[in-house]
Amino acid sequence: MGGVSSFKYFAMSKFNSYNFDRQKALIRVDFNVPIKDGRITDDTRIKAALPTIKKVLADGGSVILMSHWGRPIKDMEKKPELTRADFSLSRITGHLSNLLGVQVQFADDCISDDAVQKAANLKAGEVLLLENLRYYKQEEKGDKDFAEKLSKLGDVYVNDAFGTAHRAHASTAIIAQFFASDKRMFGLLMESEVSAAENVLHNSQKPFTAIIGGAKVSDKILIIENLLEKATDIIIGGGMAYTFFKAQGCHIGNSLCEDDRLDTANELLKKAEAKGVCIHLPADSIIADKFAADANTSSANNQEIPEGWMGLDIGQMSCDTFSKVIRESKTILWNGPMGVFEMDKFQHGTKCIADAVAEATESGAYSLVGGGDSVAAVNKFGYTNKVSYVSTGGGALLEYFEGKELPGIAAIKK
Ligand code: 3PG
Ligand code: MG
Repeated sequence: MGGVSSFKYFAMSKFNSYNFDRQKALIRVDFNVPIKDGRITDDTRIKAALPTIKKVLADGGSVILMSHWGRPIKDMEKKPELTRADFSLSRITGHLSNLLGVQVQFADDCISDDAVQKAANLKAGEVLLLENLRYYKQEEKGDKDFAEKLSKLGDVYVNDAFGTAHRAHASTAIIAQFFASDKRMFGLLMESEVSAAENVLHNSQKPFTAIIGGAKVSDKILIIENLLEKATDIIIGGGMAYTFFKAQGCHIGNSLCEDDRLDTANELLKKAEAKGVCIHLPADSIIADKFAADANTSSANNQEIPEGWMGLDIGQMSCDTFSKVIRESKTILWNGPMGVFEMDKFQHGTKCIADAVAEATESGAYSLVGGGDSVAAVNKFGYTNKVSYVSTGGGALLEYFEGKELPGIAAIKK
């Protein structure tokens, strides 16, 4: 793998220097992984938590894992056919046991007497997984009593749930106050995530190109505004690009557009110009006559997309100009795909970008990819090991780059 040597945000890892011998580590992980028909379809987040778990076990400690999965209370209200079983973390026990080579125990309620007993009885080398924290509304409310009950289960609190670090929930933030400062710390995944993000935000070599894609401008305003202070170039692709074209009076046919964000789009362009940041909008698109994998397709200039057609991917001219900018970059942040890459006809643009990011990385650039869909794209095209860092955070990474302090990180540092 290419890439500049990683910026050392953590001078020394508190987690690595802690000896967990005969200690019970209560680890908040983010096991909110996609599960379809009972099968885990992407176990990246589980695998990413393994080094932390293994270090505790290797020291002679035991591990109590806690996580949320989905949004059970809200979803069960909306769909009465759903039951708790549809949100149970018990579906992860088997796979986790295989990955760890340890038979993981399970407590079917995170704060019950049974959970307390099982945690208390854990021997060195043993692992207990607690049932979904979000079965309790107190979790998302950040309830202090609930957090305190959870805190009693372990001697040391380790937060390794970067994917949930933007939530001020009981298990991610509130719980930290019940542990002395030497008994609360980040896990190895959290350390690497923060290191990677800090490297891009505060140690970027220029040119620094941010590639921002996705459907909506409204989701990305804050990140673009914050990046105007850091990046030299911002590439904009995906559905959100058409709002920029419409704002400039172009014809975008039936392409995605947020009509209430036209002024915002123009303001972002003006701000960028004032700051000397180069915004690259796609010159052309692959257009389709419907939003479907079997649509008829053609290509068009983005100033003039015919009525009845919609842009679903960036076109070849855009691929060429974007790739050139990326190849010349020394720091790259990629959040959001260029088109509807899930459909074969509209994956070319995102694949070109992945190619260029991989090439730049090979030549020494530092590249960070984060945010659900761009990570899925990198995985789909087999580029996971060709970029410097792939984040497990979606919303959390976005908020980090918006310049916000994440509650899960702040609570440990207090
Ligand atoms: C995620 O996948 O976004 C995290 O696990 C956080 O979940 P949430 O968005 O439901 O809070
Ligand atoms: Mg989310």
